[in-house]
Amino acid sequence: MLIDGHGRTVNYLRVSVTERCNFRCQYCMPEKPFSWVPKENLLSFEELFMFMKVAMDEGVNKIRITGGEPLLREDLDSFIKMIHDYKPDIDLALTTNGYLLPQTAQKLKDAGLKRLNISLDSLKPEIAQKIAQKDVLEQVLKGIDKALEVGLGVKINMVPLKGINDDEILDVMEYCKERGIKVRFIEYMENRHANIDLRGMHGKEILAKIKERYTIHALGREGASPSFNYRIEENSYEFGLIDPHKHDFCESCNRIRLTAEGFLIPCLYFDEAMSIADAVKKGDIESASQVLAQVLKDKPKENRWNEFDPNEADVSSRAFYETGG
Ligand code: GTP
Ligand code: 5AD
Ligand code: SF4
Repeated sequence: MLIDGHGRTVNYLRVSVTERCNFRCQYCMPEKPFSWVPKENLLSFEELFMFMKVAMDEGVNKIRITGGEPLLREDLDSFIKMIHDYKPDIDLALTTNGYLLPQTAQKLKDAGLKRLNISLDSLKPEIAQKIAQKDVLEQVLKGIDKALEVGLGVKINMVPLKGINDDEILDVMEYCKERGIKVRFIEYMENRHANIDLRGMHGKEILAKIKERYTIHALGREGASPSFNYRIEENSYEFGLIDPHKHDFCESCNRIRLTAEGFLIPCLYFDEAMSIADAVKKGDIESASQVLAQVLKDKPKENRWNEFDPNEADVSSRAFYETGG
């Protein structure tokens, strides 16, 4: 079992396979073009997998593939199959913007992927375009349909932003309810790479919008997920809220992240990271395991989003496109 320096059990590994993305979501990517990490710095699937085996052997039972946009990485299905073949029972999931799902969903399912979380910030083409800085909606909706058609589990993620898509919270929820899928509303996490003019909605404000139409019951935090769940009394639909600004969010943190370059990241807020690249390139499992132990020991107690003040420059500098959120 993997236990961190604050006594929390860590059983969830998020693995980013690329920082590249075919979208430029305003809450994630810098406005101006920037240079990507050269391809030769990326770990191969075999190298990533070498570390993942160590983590699985030591207690990780939930793996999520992220990016950037993970579906941009070639032969991703072969990587998924490696993980699935090693531990068929593992909770194996992927987070995507959905754009490439029409042509990849079947292959992902066949490789052993169990479920997908797909970002859907708006049902209006022009608002979706404004957020992603690309005309994406039609293709994303097709991707969601395809994922459901091939039998993958699907959840939808929406980041409500003031003055942009905050009037669509109920519409996105109805869209999900009609399809029998869960939506999670995510508090916007301020970071240095995002558009500085963005203002997110706090959990309380998101819930207030939903309460304009429905009576809701708090159910509690969901097992290994960062989501706090609610049920709507009128129709028994369940949705989630991911609320990292809330003071108790980090108490149940069970996750660490591995980037495509081989950095192990103990907390999404902070810059701190340790590399396992040298260890896996040498096939040195013992050293990889030692880095993992150190990262767990140093994992911060909590993030600092709850202290966020828009008038202060102190904001997380960790890039979401590197860590996959
Ligand atoms: P499930 O297993 O389906 O619950 O997936 P998930 O919610 O863990 O994964 P997903 O990639 O869909 O993440 C949803 C949102 O939760 C993203 O915006 C993440 O950045 C955020 N999130 C996940 N883990 C953490 C965390 O440890 N800290 C913070 N601050 N946010 C997190
Ligand atoms: N704040 C909140 N959520 C974010 N995501 C990306 N950047 C941010 C941010 N700054 C979300 C995406 C995706 C998930 C992996 O992370 O919408 O659903
Ligand atoms: Fe790409 Fe996801 Fe970042 Fe949007 S949030 S730019 S889809 S990595």
